[in-house]
Amino acid sequence: MQINILTLFPQMFDSPFSASIFKRAIDGKLVRVNIHNIRDYTHDKHHTVDDYTYGGGAGMILKSDPIFEAVESIKSSIRLKEGAGVVPVILLTPQGRLFSQQIAWELSRHSHLILICGRYEGVDERVLEHLVTDEISIGDYVLSGGELAAIVVVDAVVRLLPGVLGSEASALDDSHATGLLEYPQYTRPAVYRGWAVPEVLLSGNHAQIAKWRREQAVLRTMKRRPELLDKANLCLEERQLVEDLKQS
Ligand code: ADE
Repeated sequence: MQINILTLFPQMFDSPFSASIFKRAIDGKLVRVNIHNIRDYTHDKHHTVDDYTYGGGAGMILKSDPIFEAVESIKSSIRLKEGAGVVPVILLTPQGRLFSQQIAWELSRHSHLILICGRYEGVDERVLEHLVTDEISIGDYVLSGGELAAIVVVDAVVRLLPGVLGSEASALDDSHATGLLEYPQYTRPAVYRGWAVPEVLLSGNHAQIAKWRREQAVLRTMKRRPELLDKANLCLEERQLVEDLKQS
């Protein structure tokens, strides 16, 4: 996968992509992340990227022309080299659709992504109307720009790419991957400060362990994020468990 990020602050991407899973994925050529400075696509002496808002009002708006030029130039180099199909052009903005594990899976199926980090008070509406194919928000709060949101999105997507995590199974068990939060996990020692690991996990009985984990995932989801249960894929027994717990 090739991910292109348009930003006014390329330096914000230096460290997040240079450690851990990212570094492995980049070194292993499973993903390539290209950072593009929007300022490089201006033509005036001052490299102007923003301007006053028509109609008056506080704050500066990101101009459309450098963003259009940057995206068009990236798209044509993708087409020249690799002939990719439709490339999503995603604006990170608090006004976008709320990012989720499902959207991460959806994005992970593309060979190329273009992410635009918004800044200041906003982006010229023509970018949204005629260039962008999707708008994503990472939560109902306002960041000072889309950079941290882009890092969040890229992290969630890259770890789903085949070969990036040690075992494929680990992404499939994640909280949210199943529609439920993840079950509790323990590692050695079996007893720490008098707190013992649940017996069943030491039993070696894989069927019992799987059953316990599934129940724990349902219980945990019910306690912490009950609204997720409506959409989760539960069997009859699990639905009954939820109903019983609601009564108690
Ligand atoms: N830019 C500013 N706030 C944001 C948010 N919550 N999500 C995505 N991009 C943003």
